[in-house]
Amino acid sequence: MKKKVLSGMRPTGRLHLGHYFGALKNWVELQDEYECYYMSADWHALTTDYADTSKINDNTFEMAADWITAGIEPEKSVIFKQSEVPQHSELFLILSMLTPLGWLYRCPTYKEQLTEIKNKDLHNIGFLGYPVLQAADILLYMADIVPVGEDQLAHLEMTREITRRFNNFYGNVLTEPQAKLTKSARVPGTDARKMSKSYGNSVFLGEDDDGIKKKVQEMYTDPLKIKKNDAGHPDGCVVFAFHKIFNKDFEARERECKAGSIGCVACKKQIMEMLSVFMKPLAEKRAAVIRDKAYLERVIKEGTERAREAASSTMTKVKKALKF
Ligand code: TRP
Repeated sequence: MKKKVLSGMRPTGRLHLGHYFGALKNWVELQDEYECYYMSADWHALTTDYADTSKINDNTFEMAADWITAGIEPEKSVIFKQSEVPQHSELFLILSMLTPLGWLYRCPTYKEQLTEIKNKDLHNIGFLGYPVLQAADILLYMADIVPVGEDQLAHLEMTREITRRFNNFYGNVLTEPQAKLTKSARVPGTDARKMSKSYGNSVFLGEDDDGIKKKVQEMYTDPLKIKKNDAGHPDGCVVFAFHKIFNKDFEARERECKAGSIGCVACKKQIMEMLSVFMKPLAEKRAAVIRDKAYLERVIKEGTERAREAASSTMTKVKKALKF
């Protein structure tokens, strides 16, 4: 029997290169070796966007299209929607009974977002319980491995603690999962901050040449390199971070930049070309997938049915363990 993988993303719309290199590429690589479940975490989207739910559903479609564009194959992996598998809420409820509040209040993502997100009131049960719902997502599928970006490690650790607590009370029922971090280099946003849709600094999957040109022109470079022959500092330069990913001769570029033998304009032009070559097939695939809404609907419906089966089998075991 193949080992299992589960991962998810909140449906926030179009995916960018941060998603691709931070997680999605990893998801694609796991498909042959593992039984993979990939979930649109639309209930998780609700924890912060409860006041405006108008985009959540469309975003799930857009995100699923991007997953397929990136190489997730519905014939291999289960693509599904969390809110269509009611067992997530059932297990969440049970786990919430045994998760100490202290764990949740201490969670770094909780503390950080409470201070960062100023335009919504996040003092609600759902937001505090976010990691518990995430634990339910993972445990329902008895996932051995959870491929995630670094920002999710604290949630994974909490899932492991909740699993141990559950198994300690009710017997060895749930599988303790392991996080799997992506190896690839971090892609910064065009302004050198973390790439994030809400920062307006993203290069999207399947971006066209005009978009690529605009984004590369915007990229933050070494402020001390003013003239083309000034010696540059590639560390911290966004264009160089992209070279590290897309240019196999990035080490030569690093030397040239430091020696002042290449200017930022030429360096940017080259990365534009490399991005264009990388994006072209993705853009074509994305357009074809988006066009066929019926296909996407079918993929999600069939995936959700398979997810329900797995989830229901786990809930039977969980209820038995609780003597219900
Ligand atoms: N919290 C994850 C994120 O924001 C999304 C997510 C929800 C998830 N449930 C999951 C990731 C289960 C991994 C496993 O990216």
